[in-house]
Amino acid sequence: MRKLLIVGIGAGDPDLMTVQAIKALNRADVVFLPDKGEEKAALRHLREQICDRFIEKPYRTVTIETPQRAPAGSDYRGVVDDWHGRIAANYDRLFREELPAGQFGALLVWGDPALYDSTLRIVERVRAGGLALDWEVIPGISSIQLLAARHKIPLNRIGEPVLITTGRKLVAGFPAGQDSVIVMLDGEQAFRQIAPEDLEIYWGAYLGTEHEILIAGRLADVADEVERVRAQARRKQGWIMDTYLLRRAKA
Ligand SMILES: C[S@@+](CC[C@H](N)C(=O)[O-])C[C@H]1O[C@@H](n2cnc3c(N)ncnc32)[C@H](O)[C@@H]1O
Repeated sequence: MRKLLIVGIGAGDPDLMTVQAIKALNRADVVFLPDKGEEKAALRHLREQICDRFIEKPYRTVTIETPQRAPAGSDYRGVVDDWHGRIAANYDRLFREELPAGQFGALLVWGDPALYDSTLRIVERVRAGGLALDWEVIPGISSIQLLAARHKIPLNRIGEPVLITTGRKLVAGFPAGQDSVIVMLDGEQAFRQIAPEDLEIYWGAYLGTEHEILIAGRLADVADEVERVRAQARRKQGWIMDTYLLRRAKA
């Protein structure tokens, strides 16, 4: 049986690695590193730094080429399903070629593997395709935990729920009946496309890294600033990762 360690590495700062994550990496014979092209080179570099710093025994690295996703269009689920199928085929081939039965392979997942990451779905798909595979999941510190810590706020109001969603979903409007909404994967500044009403925003980019930026305030007051700062930073770094909490201001 081939074994995988699916390790949450925290969302930006190698110091966010947990003791469990460090122990898991030190059980790995092979570390699989995704290559998502130029834009994500900085993130690959961080994964390599983590391996250099925390793995205290010999290990091999294998690069996994990540195919480009087709533009989503109207069939978002179909496009993602096709994309995952191609990634799973790559994983299947590499696990057969590079991970002998009885050895441990590690996959380093940004933040926490349970939050807006498809590694677990893809690995399940590889197993469903017939490869004998087992895995353990090691949780990590997610970007939304970092967002809350940096802004020094709880994510929920007392006794109230929090909704976690994407920029794609938010463009339809601030979700009805919600008080606190976390938005991830927003390449289009969806907060500009909803009525600011009585909303507050707690925004963070490059959380946990040396380029970290935080902005908070009434959405109506700071939306322009977030948009401007985001565009500038993206131009300068060549990539951006940002997330934010929108919540109704207290009456
Ligand atoms: C594919 S999801 C991965 C989330 C990850 N599994 C986690 O636990 O945070 C990528 C999205 O997470 C958010 N994100 C991840 N790392 C971030 C960081 N360091 N700063 C701000 N947002 C981040 C952004 O919304 C980005 O679009």
